Amino acid sequence: MTQAPTSTLVDTYGRVHRDLRVSLTDRCSLRCTYCMPADFADWLPSAELLTTDELMTVLATAIDEGIDEVRLTGGEPLLRPDVVDVVERIHQLPRPPRTSITTNALRLAGLAGPLRDAGLERVNVSLDTLDRDRFKQMTHRDRFDDVLAGLAAARVAGLAPIKINAVLMPGINDDEAASMLQRALDEGWRLRFIEQMPLDAGGIWHRDKMVTAEQILEKLSAAFDLSPVPVRGSAPAEEFFVNGGPETVGIIASVTRPFCGNCDRVRLTADGQLRNCLFAREESDLRSVLRDETLSDAEVAAEIRRRLHASLAAKQPGHGINDPSFIQPQRPMSAIGG
Ligand code: 5AD
Ligand code: SF4
Repeated sequence: MTQAPTSTLVDTYGRVHRDLRVSLTDRCSLRCTYCMPADFADWLPSAELLTTDELMTVLATAIDEGIDEVRLTGGEPLLRPDVVDVVERIHQLPRPPRTSITTNALRLAGLAGPLRDAGLERVNVSLDTLDRDRFKQMTHRDRFDDVLAGLAAARVAGLAPIKINAVLMPGINDDEAASMLQRALDEGWRLRFIEQMPLDAGGIWHRDKMVTAEQILEKLSAAFDLSPVPVRGSAPAEEFFVNGGPETVGIIASVTRPFCGNCDRVRLTADGQLRNCLFAREESDLRSVLRDETLSDAEVAAEIRRRLHASLAAKQPGHGINDPSFIQPQRPMSAIGG
């Protein structure tokens, strides 16, 4: 394997981009209340989704420019019928990136082994409660046991570390902060709490109705001794040693303590639109380039490269959630990719 080149994906603020988040589908098997309304049905037409060949063309170019880490997201990425093939083909690219997946784990029991064999390194599992009834209430689906089965299979398959993403909502599951951490310690999961962001399809987010990093720390500190882990780099989570370590807990305080200054991420939606930020108001259309029959393969690659750089050149210094003029992006998180 040849050495990865230095990333050329530097924006006007000097941020070097190495991490590409790829949404494989906007569809999902759950309806988490902070993400989409129970009756949500505004899906992308399937003809608009990038084919796996098209996706590989984008990835090969992005890797040439310095991307060395790929996160597969959704919606729910395991709903893509050829997800194992996608992982395998990523792994077969020249200079394959480290590859992980963010999933709700409903289909992980059957897929953890094949995904591992195909080259997947690790998983992030979204899980907001340890209570079956509450899970059903929060996701509108009675599938808690499938998540636990998926987590068990991930461990057997050797997908490591297993990270858990949890979003707390006031009066709904914010009483579970400490019990979730205890369970994570017992199971060997790395737990990270994510502040609820204004990215839901239903527009229910409200600053006064979110649980802040400070409140999470307060709840955890009542049960555990937490001390900050010094290094952070570009990782969005602030990490804390639990009871002296080595176990840690993370808090992703996107709203109250933004980490945009260290951002190294760029995103590709399932329908082939490049976004320089979760909260970007503009996208760069790669699908039309991929489907332009007047272009040779080399011209397609050159145009994708050009659009990657142009998108980064337009990247804003921060997401502006805390500005009074903030406007929520038109697309919900399920269509952007987390
Ligand atoms: N705010 C914060 N996190 C969210 N997620 C989805 N929607 C939101 C939101 N509005 C989380 C999911 C998943 C990850 C990709 O992002 O729970 O773990
Ligand atoms: Fe699905 Fe993830 Fe949205 Fe939940 S947060 S509905 S698992 S896409």
